[in-house]
Amino acid sequence: MERKNLVIAGGGSTYTLGMIKSLISEKDNFPLRSIIFFDNDEKRQTQIAEAAEIILKEQYPELEHFDCTTDKKTAFQKADVVFVQIRTGGLKMRELDEQIPLRHGVVGQETCGPGGMAYGFRSIKDMIQLVNDIRFYAKDAWILNYTNPAAIVAEALRRVFPDDYKLVNICDMPIAIMHSYASLLDMDVWDLVPEYFGLNHFGWFTKLEDLQGNDLTNRIKEKIIHEGFVPTDSEIANDVSWKKTFEQARNMLLDFPEYLPNTYLQYYLYPEELAEKESINNTRARQVINGREKRVHETCRQICKDKSTENVILESDIHGVYMVRAAASFVYNHKELYIVMVENNGVIANLPKEAMVEVPALLTVNGPKPLAIGEIPIFYKGLIEAQLAYEQLVADAYFERSYHKLLQALTLNRTVVDTDKAKAILDDLIQANEGYWPELQK
Ligand code: G6P
Ligand code: MN
Repeated sequence: MERKNLVIAGGGSTYTLGMIKSLISEKDNFPLRSIIFFDNDEKRQTQIAEAAEIILKEQYPELEHFDCTTDKKTAFQKADVVFVQIRTGGLKMRELDEQIPLRHGVVGQETCGPGGMAYGFRSIKDMIQLVNDIRFYAKDAWILNYTNPAAIVAEALRRVFPDDYKLVNICDMPIAIMHSYASLLDMDVWDLVPEYFGLNHFGWFTKLEDLQGNDLTNRIKEKIIHEGFVPTDSEIANDVSWKKTFEQARNMLLDFPEYLPNTYLQYYLYPEELAEKESINNTRARQVINGREKRVHETCRQICKDKSTENVILESDIHGVYMVRAAASFVYNHKELYIVMVENNGVIANLPKEAMVEVPALLTVNGPKPLAIGEIPIFYKGLIEAQLAYEQLVADAYFERSYHKLLQALTLNRTVVDTDKAKAILDDLIQANEGYWPELQK
């Protein structure tokens, strides 16, 4: 296998150390010549990069080159694959995305509802710029984007880069959920074959089979109902908030037993309960700042002090391994099945052609090849159509600089519904996002 050059855009992220460990554990599947971190926040990136360099020297001696840079040319000129994980506005703005809707009694979440919309409006500009920069220096590189809110980002990128089949939006939530299904059955997650449809953070598993084709769906449902549902991937298994989220998946299944829900549906199906449960001074952003971010930075400091990893625990995680194996499937044309975002084009027969849907696809050297789903039942179709209209209106509003379309989008969103509430939230978000959002015309 020919060795590849990888760039991680957003190298300063709290996910990068886990990604490095995943690249190490997957080096036989995806052998690399070089890894380069790229970020616009030099200080934040350096903290992670200094530790990463020590880890890689120790555990990836075959790697010829490691670097971290804020210079686009240095980063992208030799790239074969780019992982994109940027967060415009950082965790500071994430906290406001969560707090502002909560002040109005509405779900405060980074990708769902008004918070997701606010984050989307910030992300679109930087994502378009970044993809243009990557394409300027590396026109053939695979770009695996998992920048959030992925649904809105994917819709915006589809409009600007319609024919770029090497630009793929991908999310780790379905595989993280499958990891828990596999644990329930005492199986390996890679031996589960999913059938799934929806939008990003808005979908359902309709079936899970093993590699021999045996249907495991009912066994999984029964286990969840009788034994409960917990996160099992190392990154989230001990996280109080993720535990609650997985628990809620069981309640969703009791209410709607037909399909197995993506955990994010809780925000849309029980918006009042979810908004009530949140505390404004300790939203998810604050938990991440005090939890994962602190832990990652402490780990980095320890590694740099010891000049080795002997006193730290580092684990690969399903997020990292999923992205790495997906990249390998594209690059080496393995044609393996992964759940990714693609333009619908008839895959879900009763949804619009241009919708960015999340479905299983074979990842080939010529791009993702989705498998046909057919028609979906009316409940799911109704939910998806409203959510899709919201996502498309957010993208419309961005490109047209339209306040009115943004208000329409928010009013359509199941977490908001009421127009006066939508207006009040929107006004607060406009103020909080000054300098990040484009000026809107009323
Ligand atoms: C899942 C989702 C990601 C999201 C992340 C947030 O992995 O798929 O899109 O960014 O959760 O996790 P956090 O621990 O930061 O709340
Ligand atoms: Mn996601």
